[in-house]
Amino acid sequence: MQRIRKAVFPVGGLGTRFLPATKAMPKEMLTVVDKPLIQHAVEEAQAAGIEQFIFVTGRNKSPIEDHFDYSFELEQILVEREKLKELASLRSWVPGVGRVAYTRQQQAKGLGHAVWCARDLVGDEPFAVVLADDLVLSGTPCLRQLIDVHERTGGNVVAIMEVPRAETCRYGVLAVGDDDGRLAKVTSLVEKPAPDEAPSTLSIIGRYVLLPQVFAHLERQAPSAGDEIQLTDSLARMIGTAPFHGLRFEGTRFDCGTKIGFLKANVAFAMTRPEIAEELGDFLKSIV
Ligand code: G1P
Repeated sequence: MQRIRKAVFPVGGLGTRFLPATKAMPKEMLTVVDKPLIQHAVEEAQAAGIEQFIFVTGRNKSPIEDHFDYSFELEQILVEREKLKELASLRSWVPGVGRVAYTRQQQAKGLGHAVWCARDLVGDEPFAVVLADDLVLSGTPCLRQLIDVHERTGGNVVAIMEVPRAETCRYGVLAVGDDDGRLAKVTSLVEKPAPDEAPSTLSIIGRYVLLPQVFAHLERQAPSAGDEIQLTDSLARMIGTAPFHGLRFEGTRFDCGTKIGFLKANVAFAMTRPEIAEELGDFLKSIV
């Protein structure tokens, strides 16, 4: 079985829900505590063993490229001022030379189209997709949990969780067969169904391990929900041709595509930091 070496990060979205914060700054650069969302996503992938980082970008996304580059002037100043701890924390997570690739999604045609844009960079091997909007606080990195399953079952693997029925219209939603309460065999899936049409409330969150065959399906894919080319539709077409599982991952997921999810993520991640947790906890108690 081929190892999962590459991860695709679709970062072309406009971030209109966070205007005006995202007027001149990519939404992926919004910070949870002291790291941009996209850095949280990349660090999760690194901890899961990913070696190649493929960003599918769009207009006005160059701060993301700068973030994953060396910053010569800044590093020089830190050396001169002997701030070696800060220097180390600036370098440790930057992928090595040649480990990052960027391609532009020239038109906003949906998640499936964004993933398809990475087809030549991924090539003919299974790969991961990580959506930075979905931030997961967990012991074992969420993507690692998916890769562990893929190594046992092969095929496509998606991270899933139960959502309130009223919210199925925001997710890819599964119908499942064999289900041991953690891992479920996917029998069908549909993008953003209305609550009364959803096959279940088991929904995909933004972590995927996918077979490269998905690209051929994406290539032929017509736009559907929201007039976008949906990844979900191509995954549905692969059912029966390869194993396909949904994993109820261990961890807490924050929907950082919404203000409330983003704020909760900030509080939850801050509470894991010993230097902030106590004072923040006292403050929160005092204001609620
Ligand atoms: C995308 C996918 C959807 C998935 C969701 C997870 O939707 O299309 O299937 O459930 O991410 O966050 P988006 O949030 O981009 O509308």
